[in-house]
Amino acid sequence: MPDHRRSGVRSHTMRIGILGTGMMATTLGGAWVRAGHDVLVGGRDQAAAAAAAARIGAAGHGTLTDGAAHGDLVLVALPADVAPEVVRGLAGTLTGRTVIDCTNPIVPTDDGLMLTTGGTTSISRRMADAAPGAHVVKAFNLCHESIWTLPRPTFEGAPLAVPFCGDDPGSLDQVTALITSMGCTPVPCGGLSRAVYIEATAAFAIGVWWSGAETRFAFPTPAQAPLNL
Ligand SMILES: NC(=O)c1ccc[n+]([C@@H]2O[C@H](COP(=O)([O-])OP(=O)(O)OC[C@H]3O[C@@H](n4cnc5c(N)ncnc54)[C@H](OP(=O)(O)O)[C@@H]3O)[C@@H](O)[C@H]2O)c1
Repeated sequence: MPDHRRSGVRSHTMRIGILGTGMMATTLGGAWVRAGHDVLVGGRDQAAAAAAAARIGAAGHGTLTDGAAHGDLVLVALPADVAPEVVRGLAGTLTGRTVIDCTNPIVPTDDGLMLTTGGTTSISRRMADAAPGAHVVKAFNLCHESIWTLPRPTFEGAPLAVPFCGDDPGSLDQVTALITSMGCTPVPCGGLSRAVYIEATAAFAIGVWWSGAETRFAFPTPAQAPLNL
């Protein structure tokens, strides 16, 4: 029998398990249900998991282990400070699966938002170390939860760009197909060592938004300027 978990880019239904029952679980999960995927919400509280699954029209709900076992892809939608240890406890079940890390290890300080990792490692790396057989991909951490409630999010005429990074080519293909199925544009950013930058980008950008400014106006492409040097 072919291993359906390792079949690369596909446009058909994906099986996605979600760890967590909160805002990212339900907004991203809802977007994936709308895109036609087979989603199961797994949580430590079964009443919360049932309510979250019902809210988004997911195919089912269950425990965290059920969520890990359901998916070709498994979203970790938990607080960053507990996510690697939860993943460690599920390491056997997660072996061979694509684990999507949307966590942001950030805390407010007197000096603005700071990374709890110190910026020298990433939560994605800690997850990968905790579950060496899993294929961790950093993705979906740069937007506020509300963005995922928009059908096919488009801004200024362009589909939402979703940066992601990871080491396993098959998992990167799966995440590419997943992002595309949501009507968004995949932006591959390299190997899992880049997760430290994607996490730092969230800390920086959210801090700018909180100040009332717009990060998007700080990053025009060079192609937008005539090179009259
Ligand atoms: N919200 C956003 O806009 C946003 C955007 C980008 C990234 N993120 C990141 O996404 C992750 C999830 O955020 P969220 O807003 O969805 O949080 P949330 O609404 O607070 O949900 C967190 C979930 O984690 C569960 N949980 C907490 N501690 C746990 C533990 N020790 N074991 C098992 N489950 C546990 C909670 O279960 P209980 O209800 O039982 O406590 C809840 O289901 C965070 O890392 C966050 O930084 C959030």
